[in-house]
Amino acid sequence: MKRFLEEISEYVKAAFAEAGYDEALGRVSVSNRPDLCEYQCNGAMAGAKQYHKAPLMIAQDVAAKLEGSKVFGKVEAVAPGFLNLDLTNEFVADYVNRMAGDEKFGLEMPTPTTMVVDYGGPNVAKPLHVGHLRSAVIGESIKRILRYMGNTVYGDIHMGDWGLQMGLVIYETSLRMPDLPYFDDDYTGEYPSEAPFTVADLEEIYPAASNKSKTDADYKAHAMETTVKLQEGHRGYRALWNHMMNISIADMKRNYSRLDVEFDLWNGESTVQELIPGMVRDMKDGGYAYESDGALVVDVKEETDTKEMPPCIIIKSDGASLYNTTDLATIKDRVARYDPSKIVYLTDKRQDLYFEQVFRCARKTGLVDDGCELIHLSFGTVNGADGSPYKTRSGGVPKLSDLIDEIEDAMLIKIKENTAAKGENISDEEARDRARKVGLAAIKYGDLSNQASKDYIFDVDRFTSFEGDTGPYILYTCVRINSILRKAAEQGTDVSACRIQAPVNASHKALMQAVSGFSAEITSAYEEYAPHRICGYIYGLSNAFNSFYHENHILTEEDAQTKGSFLALLDLTGKILKTCTDMLGFEIPERM
Ligand code: ARG
Repeated sequence: MKRFLEEISEYVKAAFAEAGYDEALGRVSVSNRPDLCEYQCNGAMAGAKQYHKAPLMIAQDVAAKLEGSKVFGKVEAVAPGFLNLDLTNEFVADYVNRMAGDEKFGLEMPTPTTMVVDYGGPNVAKPLHVGHLRSAVIGESIKRILRYMGNTVYGDIHMGDWGLQMGLVIYETSLRMPDLPYFDDDYTGEYPSEAPFTVADLEEIYPAASNKSKTDADYKAHAMETTVKLQEGHRGYRALWNHMMNISIADMKRNYSRLDVEFDLWNGESTVQELIPGMVRDMKDGGYAYESDGALVVDVKEETDTKEMPPCIIIKSDGASLYNTTDLATIKDRVARYDPSKIVYLTDKRQDLYFEQVFRCARKTGLVDDGCELIHLSFGTVNGADGSPYKTRSGGVPKLSDLIDEIEDAMLIKIKENTAAKGENISDEEARDRARKVGLAAIKYGDLSNQASKDYIFDVDRFTSFEGDTGPYILYTCVRINSILRKAAEQGTDVSACRIQAPVNASHKALMQAVSGFSAEITSAYEEYAPHRICGYIYGLSNAFNSFYHENHILTEEDAQTKGSFLALLDLTGKILKTCTDMLGFEIPERM
């Protein structure tokens, strides 16, 4: 199906052509004067020069051709040369009916391909904190959008599991518990199956070690040496590393499942270690990598660069590989395994330059060809009310789980107030379940409704509000629709047998027009990797639905055909809202 505006434009384009003008002039947009008309076409203004004619005359010529049209109920040529248009009720109903008859609501689907989304990016041994929220939330939504468009999409968590933080924890552990067999180079037996630390221990060990390494050069040197030994396969360190991985991954899974974020691949920097030597050899043999101050580097500068573009360091002078070495090897791995048409990365803006270097290096050295697009989507910071990065009351970096708790607690209070006000008696368990679902919508919508590249303020009060541009408001609308449909079913109406009829009043028509934007908005969200487009769409749709709901009696409507038409439109609106909230990554509770 054509997008709504495109379909309308077709008719106006034909009229331009019929009147002897260029049909390209017939593009229609939503009116910026809704008090005067629903849609407008400004093509006559642009055509005036081309045809040496007053724009009003062109507009009048075109308007004459549109007279009696089944699509436009009103066509007005107004000075200085605009075409003001209103659609007929029948046309709007017909379009929406066609949407209802299609599984994807008339969405034009691209040719499907395989893609990888690299998001989450947590680091083993370090707790998940507020900085990990956006990558998870935006990445999950992008993955779901790409999938909805029919693609095969792999979500890869790409853990930081191979860097200095691992060496720091291992070295610090060796100082605290020197008698453990992991540190005895002569030990040949089996290592304990139980880890010598817990998640809580790691949360203390890592920052302690990291702080020491910042002031104590000797300490840092030992930690780096430990990292290299680990990477070279030191048996005891590897065993300790396995413990760290198991503990951390269990903790990550807990956190991500609270966010309804799911990865298909639990790979990390360590996954591709074995690919590195071959890759480095190829880069040298190909004449791309050369030695510079003992390190192996690839130049990625281009003539047109206006900003500084340092070379990509592939191997450090001490022989260690780096963050970007693993990213490059991961590209090689993904290309070999999945032959993706796109690899999409999500990190905060501080890694902009980094990814530019990595992508250039990957292209230059032939790790990817033109069939694979590398895309870095970078996002802004989560700020507190004061506009600077969100902090705990004591000034620390908030843990991700604390942030989720904060929203869920606020939500629980509201849910309890709400149900009490309605005289509904629910168990504590039920209240918590609702708070979890609505809380998740509050967090995710609060994040996704902003353009990803911008910073936003994490405002618990605003995010959890049932009114305004918020997740709970959207869910409230969905719950309302579902409840009406449930009651209609109880009354014996089979909604699937009902057809959407021409709108009977303005709010009815406006709801249909809001529905009709689905294809255009989802396509933009897909092409621009922009979940905020979906938020904008469903907010407008929810507003249109609620106006309709307040101005019409649905279940008590006496005319059976009108009632069926109302319900069929509700059904479509509800299905679309469900589809969109799925793409944003949250669920609709039964009640709230
Ligand atoms: N672990 C990284 C960090 O904390 C993020 C990983 C992002 N993905 C990637 N392929 N580099 O900064």
